[in-house]
Amino acid sequence: MTSQNNRAQFVTRMGAIATAVGSAVGLGNIWRFPYEAGTHGGGAFMLCYIFFIIILGIPVLCAEFAIGRATRANEIKAFEKLAPKTKWYFAGYIGVLASILILSFYSVVAGWTMEFFLSSLIGSLPADTAHLHSHFDSFISGDTRPLIWTLVFLAVNFIVLSRGVEKGIEKVSNIMMPMMFVLLIVFCFNSLLLPGASEGLAFLFRPDFSMIDSRTLLSAMGQAFFSLSLGLGCMLTYGSYFPDKTKLGRSAATTALLDTTVAILAGIIIFPAVFAYGISPQAGPTLVFETLPAIFINMPGGIVWAPLFFFLLFLASITSTISMSEISIAWLTEELKLSRKKATSVTIATAMVLGSLCALSFGSLSGFKIAGLTVFDLFDYLSSNILLPVGGMLVSIFAGWVMDRKLLRRQLSSDSGGGKKARMLGLVIFLLKWVAPIAIGLILLDSVGVI
Ligand code: TRP
Repeated sequence: MTSQNNRAQFVTRMGAIATAVGSAVGLGNIWRFPYEAGTHGGGAFMLCYIFFIIILGIPVLCAEFAIGRATRANEIKAFEKLAPKTKWYFAGYIGVLASILILSFYSVVAGWTMEFFLSSLIGSLPADTAHLHSHFDSFISGDTRPLIWTLVFLAVNFIVLSRGVEKGIEKVSNIMMPMMFVLLIVFCFNSLLLPGASEGLAFLFRPDFSMIDSRTLLSAMGQAFFSLSLGLGCMLTYGSYFPDKTKLGRSAATTALLDTTVAILAGIIIFPAVFAYGISPQAGPTLVFETLPAIFINMPGGIVWAPLFFFLLFLASITSTISMSEISIAWLTEELKLSRKKATSVTIATAMVLGSLCALSFGSLSGFKIAGLTVFDLFDYLSSNILLPVGGMLVSIFAGWVMDRKLLRRQLSSDSGGGKKARMLGLVIFLLKWVAPIAIGLILLDSVGVI
């Protein structure tokens, strides 16, 4: 990064894209995508998800990048700069709220990856498939260990963020992520050779159109936003660090492509195994953590694969949680003028309190439900299915209707030399102006039963 006008910037185009991908690729792809697909009918969910990535995800990602780079400011400042004396900055507060909720439940799952890393390293995972379910069940319902891991994961975040060594982590992960990609491909081959493979693939790739209802649409839309880190200003903030020569449209498309590929690979790994080992695809948030160990213990050299994979997953999670934490840290330091250390402490301490509630949601708080959901499920549902789409809708309305059109075009048109590229730009603007706000609005209204 170099400093220009006192603000940090990425030096290279690769650095910019790698950081955006680092934020996007995480538990959302490997843990959340398979479990959401499993509970919402497999192929039907996958189809809707890819559709939303194309018509909503890529345009909103372009808009976040463009707003960020045009203003070179945090989310709240960015709206203030582009639309002074309006209430648009309020969109920034949705981002702060959602980022804390997500950080809280995300840390619980990241804690599970740490537990699995350790237990696969010391060889304490059960050696047969039959005992895996009860092993995991007693772990998450046991309160103490999940709680401790959640706090440990957040403490690691605190250390990284308060020392400002995020860039170090990102460097490490830029080397490790390609490795993760290779591992995923190896696991895909392994899963494709399992006896139940064709059944699993059919579940994921053969859509049963009767499964497409308002819940599937809402969840697939939420997953598209979650997976691309959209709707709370993460990508907007990253866009503000992009050099002027970065081609925003192309970066958005590359990020979306890589992110979606990782999710699909995760699906190809999980579902054949789900059918081969008789696990229910509807298991919910625990699905992947019941399936992966079953894959590893039945795989030649499983002793090596398992700790390696869980370590890489932990790294992928931390590059994502860093991007989430930045939202409230930027708000606390730039708007409320706290020191970076204080801002980091407040953010992580809040997430520790809320994260503890989420960690206990599988144990002693499992009976404590609000609107029929445990604290963990409530945070996940509320942030991913409501706050992120609302944030994405505001960003698209802002880019399509409020932001100076010439400025938006200038940001996005570094790629367009006329012809095909100019048509792409026109399409992105059309999607932002009409399709995204209307589609998101209708799905949200439908989900609350208004239409
Ligand atoms: N996209 C990340 C993942 O898939 C999670 C994430 C990071 C996120 N930053 C975000 C989700 C901002 C929503 C909003 O794991």
